[in-house]
Amino acid sequence: MNASSLILGIESSCDETAASVVRDGVTVLSNVIASQHDLHAKFGGVVPEIASRAHIERILPVINEALDKAGVTLNDLTAVAVGNRPGLIGSLLVGVSAAKALAWSLGKPLVAVDHVEAHLYAAALDSDPIAYPALGLVVSGGHTSLYLLRDAMHIEVLGRTIDDAVGEAYDKVAAILDLGFPGGPIVDKLARTGDANAIDFPRSLLDRESLDFSFSGMKTAVLYKVRGHPVGRGRAATFERSAADLTDTQKADIAASFQRAAVDVLIRKLERAITQHPDIRSIVIGGGVSANSRLRAESLAFGEKNKLPVRLPRMAFCIDNAAMIAGLGHEHHRAGRFADLNLEAAATASI
Ligand code: KG4
Ligand code: ZN
Repeated sequence: MNASSLILGIESSCDETAASVVRDGVTVLSNVIASQHDLHAKFGGVVPEIASRAHIERILPVINEALDKAGVTLNDLTAVAVGNRPGLIGSLLVGVSAAKALAWSLGKPLVAVDHVEAHLYAAALDSDPIAYPALGLVVSGGHTSLYLLRDAMHIEVLGRTIDDAVGEAYDKVAAILDLGFPGGPIVDKLARTGDANAIDFPRSLLDRESLDFSFSGMKTAVLYKVRGHPVGRGRAATFERSAADLTDTQKADIAASFQRAAVDVLIRKLERAITQHPDIRSIVIGGGVSANSRLRAESLAFGEKNKLPVRLPRMAFCIDNAAMIAGLGHEHHRAGRFADLNLEAAATASI
């Protein structure tokens, strides 16, 4: 058996500053996440300049806390792993610079990890290994994509959203209903009190074979349901009503019906994908929306029906976190895939 590895993971791709220490790629010793939601809430979305400034202020305390909670020192580490792509470039740069400085000063290997690939690894944390080949589904604020995973590091894209990501649709529906930011968890909670069959929102499945996604039509249908028809033209256009004119029950019914339609689309795409790829041995789901109660329940039921294990991350590893970076970083380290000090942050993904 190999000596145990201790990887420090660093994540700063969007609006969470996170650090984590993971042993042997699976045992999470610490998982520290400093969220910036309060800083961005009044703008209704993440403001890149504010995010990168907040990362700079938080990154060192967050790393220190992760080491303290894990009960390890910098010298105990085997390597430093950092999410260097994709994401907001100014935010990514903060994590990448911190990781390079640490790796260089400690004389330890540096490992670069793709944030989306890491979401597909999150289900293995504090859990059993994933059975490959696997079908992957990443559902987050920036991504809604299906993948074929030969293993944790060899990943091929099967389909992706042609407009909004599903998390983005959740956030926009929350904004339309005037519920706050980030909207996903709020809509999920409200949906549990509403009637999911109240409204039949349109589901776009695209061409018969397509594994791509589209959520903008569904989102617009929610907008019209809440506000009625547009009145007037051009800049002067308004709507018949606003969210304030709806009762709490009406809002809950809209949230529940939207949630049913959105999850329905995800499950129907999984169905298409397993038909097209009958060799897969499991389905792995990751990203912020994998915390969604309806998606969790429906995907598990889908797996049971099709006799395929469905691997969902523990709740702490659904949203952006550094444990998934450290976990996948361990696989890269084991495979001898190191980065050097020329490592750059990249706004777009490599897969
Ligand atoms: O993975 P993540 O933290 O960041 C990105 O990489 O984008 O995902 C954040 C997204 C947000 O859009 C948020 O509203 C959504 O995940 N989200 C949820 C839930 N929890 C977070 N969406 C639906 N239901 C939830 N329970
Ligand atoms: Zn993410």
